[in-house]
Parts: sequence; structure tokens; C-alpha cells
Amino acid sequence: MDTSAEIKLQEQYIKKVKKINVNKDLKYTILTMGCQLNENDSEKLCGMLEKMGYIRTDNQKEADIAVFNTCCVRENAEDKLFGKLGELKRLKEEKGIIIAIGGCMMQEKHITDKIKQSYPFVDILFGTHTLHKFPEDLHKVLEEKRKLEDIIDIEGKIYEGLPIKRDSNIKASVTIMNGCNNFCSYCIVPYVRGRERSRQPRNIINEVKDLAKQGYKEITLLGQNVNSYLRVEREKNILFEEYEGVNSFATLLTAINKIDGIERIRFISPHPKDFTDDVIDAIATCDKVCKLVHLPLQSGNTKVLKEMNRKYTKEQYLELVEKMKAKIPNLTLSTDIIVGFPGETDEEFEDTLDVVRKVGFEQVYMFIYSRRVGTPGDKMENQIPEDIKHKRFDKLKALVESQIEENNQKYVGTIQKVLVEGESKNNKQMLTGRTDSNKVVIFEGNKELINQVIKLKIVSEHMWYLKGAIYEG
Ligand code: 5AD
Ligand code: SF4
Repeated sequence: MDTSAEIKLQEQYIKKVKKINVNKDLKYTILTMGCQLNENDSEKLCGMLEKMGYIRTDNQKEADIAVFNTCCVRENAEDKLFGKLGELKRLKEEKGIIIAIGGCMMQEKHITDKIKQSYPFVDILFGTHTLHKFPEDLHKVLEEKRKLEDIIDIEGKIYEGLPIKRDSNIKASVTIMNGCNNFCSYCIVPYVRGRERSRQPRNIINEVKDLAKQGYKEITLLGQNVNSYLRVEREKNILFEEYEGVNSFATLLTAINKIDGIERIRFISPHPKDFTDDVIDAIATCDKVCKLVHLPLQSGNTKVLKEMNRKYTKEQYLELVEKMKAKIPNLTLSTDIIVGFPGETDEEFEDTLDVVRKVGFEQVYMFIYSRRVGTPGDKMENQIPEDIKHKRFDKLKALVESQIEENNQKYVGTIQKVLVEGESKNNKQMLTGRTDSNKVVIFEGNKELINQVIKLKIVSEHMWYLKGAIYEG
């Protein structure tokens, strides 16, 4: 069956489940772990659930169905899932709540085996390649009252046209490609998300145009490796249809930049090795593309990078940063760093600190290396003891925080364009928004400003946010 026929079939199942649920006032709760790609998948699960007659609740106790969308990039997510399943056991016994677990962790056999053995009350297990079949799976559970496992291990396909219920009406995520072919030696993603495949330009452009019509102002393009959008298709002569001049990541940025109504474009995550000049030029010339670029470093040491299979050296990373800084005015950078990769010595870790000092990142997402079953990193012999990993993490964190403090001071007195997102969570009298560089700014203002890009003068800085005042100039 081709993908559009499969989606049509699921539409039938949505109708069938809705009929079973009619007049029942049913509720669902959803817990999402991990990255923005997973959040975007959850928005699709929410879209399907709402079409099937469920209403969202954040109170687990009143839910008729609980869905978990799991992540397996690091170990702590597993502890979280098993903790939650323990909690849900009581609700299962008391009121027969339906429990469905999906996402990346379900592509790992040792995890699904553990669930089936220790948590046999779970109703549905679904993987990353079967998310679109959720209505069919749920229908089977409702009709046949049996447990169901729907997990396949394939290269992966792209399914268009799933219902979607977005979390925000200001900022929207658009997945442009799925999967990863890089096989960094610490990373489980290529094993659970399959091979790289890109959406057709026409589908992406039309989705963004539609979002603009609905009033969305900010678009984040998502993919495990966004800047290799359409690369595999070009290299392997896989058919794709050029649309509005889009045949690469750079041309995609240029085409989206032309869409009226959209004011900001972000993208995560690119790979430094695929940061070609055309992409740098597109960021520089497209006024809507934010000048904050996320450029995952992982390690600042060439030997560790080689062991990680990252395909660049410390020097190449720094040269790329210099080239980007020279070509893109007001560029700011954020990054991901892993400490304690197998074999990393104190000296090699110093190289990471050196790159952090040299680049001056706007934001650093720091991770302690976590062994992932099935990856080459897990099989390496020279694993780093936990206490050393933690010491390195603390050292990096102290450096990053001192840099952020210093960097924040540079904002005070400047005028920043801010997309106003809503009331501040901690102080309802204030509004909150974000700068181009994704810094949170809170300020006093009228609620009518929500969903507009306005100018603010930054009056003070606080570790994780700035305070601003409306600038009339
Ligand atoms: N251990 C720690 N961090 C990891 N990441 C990916 N795999 C691991 C791992 N096994 C981090 C990388 C990646 C981010 C999304 O998660 O820094 O860029
Ligand atoms: Fe994982 Fe590397 Fe692929 Fe990113 S590029 S998803 S870190 S394998």
C-alpha cells in the first residue's frame, strides 16, 4: 500500500473510533520526552486523538487514555518512563485506563521486552515507523480488548496529511526530514529513526503557507540533520520534485523566507560537516532567518571527534565558526556538548573548554555521556568513571554560566526585536517574548502585543532572562 492509501485507511479508523466514543466525554493525557522532533510527533498524536473524540487533560487521574512518546538518546529517560508506568498501574487497576507507549525507545528490543515482562498491563506499544497507524491500533484494542504491539524496523517512509493539534498558535515546528545516516558512535538515533529521507519541497512549502495563513509568525524546521535536506535524494537519484526553486536546504530557506506572514525562521539541528557555503549565504541574506545558529560541537578535541565519527577536526569547526561570523552579521551560536566520551582524557577535555572559550556560545546544551546499547561507543573499553564525568560536567557548566553572565551584560542598553509570546508564567502582569537569539525577555505591555514582533530596550539582565521596556524609536 502506498503512503497516501495508508493515511486514507487510518482516516477510516479515526471515524470508527469516534463512533465508538460518541457521547462518552473521554479524555487523554500525553507525556512527551526528548527533542522537538518528538514534540512534533506528539502534536500529530494529539491531532489523531482529538479527531477520535478525546479531549486533552493534564490531570492523569481523569484520563481515559495515557500516551507516552518516548526518547532514548540518554539513559535518564528510561528511568522516567518506568517510574510513570509504576504510577499508572494503579489507574489501570482502578478504572481501566488505556496505556499506549510509542516513540524511539520502543524501537529498542531490550526495552519492549522489559515492558512486556514487568509492565504487562500496557495496552499498545508502537514505534517510530508506525505512529501514523495509531488509530488502527487503538481501534483494535477497543474492539478486541487485547494487547497490541505494532513495531517495525525499516528504513522509514514519510507520511503526509496526518491530523495535527499544535501546542502554540504563534510558533510552529515543521519536520522537513527524518532519520540519520551519520552514525556518530555515541548515538542511538540512526538505529531507532531509520535512514535519512526528506519531505517533498511542495509539501513543506504548502504547510508553511498554510501556517502563515493561520497567523503563525515563527517556523522551526526540524530534522536530525536539517542541512542535509534532499542530499541523499540528490546523491542516489531518488525522485523528488523541485518546487518554487527548492532542491536543497539553502533553497528551502530562501523559498520560506518569501512567504508572507512568516516573520522568523529557525532550524535544528544541522551538522557542521554539511554546513556548505550556500547555506551560510542563505542565512546571511534571508532577513527572516534568525541569526542564532545551533552548531553541535560534541567535543573540542580532534581525536575524540574522530572516535565519535563526527567527520571534522577542532580546527575545521573553529574555521567554520570564523567563516560564519565573517559572513553573517550579528551571528550568535548555540551548541551541544558531550563530556566523558570513552577514552576522553583530562587534556582532551581541556580542548572542549578551549573551543567554548574561543567561540563564546549564546547557549550550550551539556550532556554527560550515556552508554546506549547497540552503539559502537557502548562497546569501547575505556569508559570514563561516573565521578570523573560529573567533575568535567561541573567544570564545563561553570565556564558556560560565566560566559552567559558576561554575554547577558552585552544586551543591556541594546534595542532588540522580540516576538511576543504571551503572559509571563511567573508574573501575569508581565509579557514574555524572545529575541532573534532566542533569549527570553519579560516586559510590561498590553496583551494586544501578543503574536507581534516589537522593539524592546533591554534594561537589565538576569541569568536566564532579560528585562525590557517598549521602545518607541
Ligand atoms: N550520551 C550523551 N549525550 C548524547 N547525545 C546524543 N547521544 C548521546 C549519548 N549517548 C546528545 C548529543 C546530541 C544531543 C541531541 O544529545 O549532544 O547532539
Ligand atoms: Fe545522532 Fe550524529 Fe545523527 Fe545527530 S548526526 S542524530 S548525533 S548520529
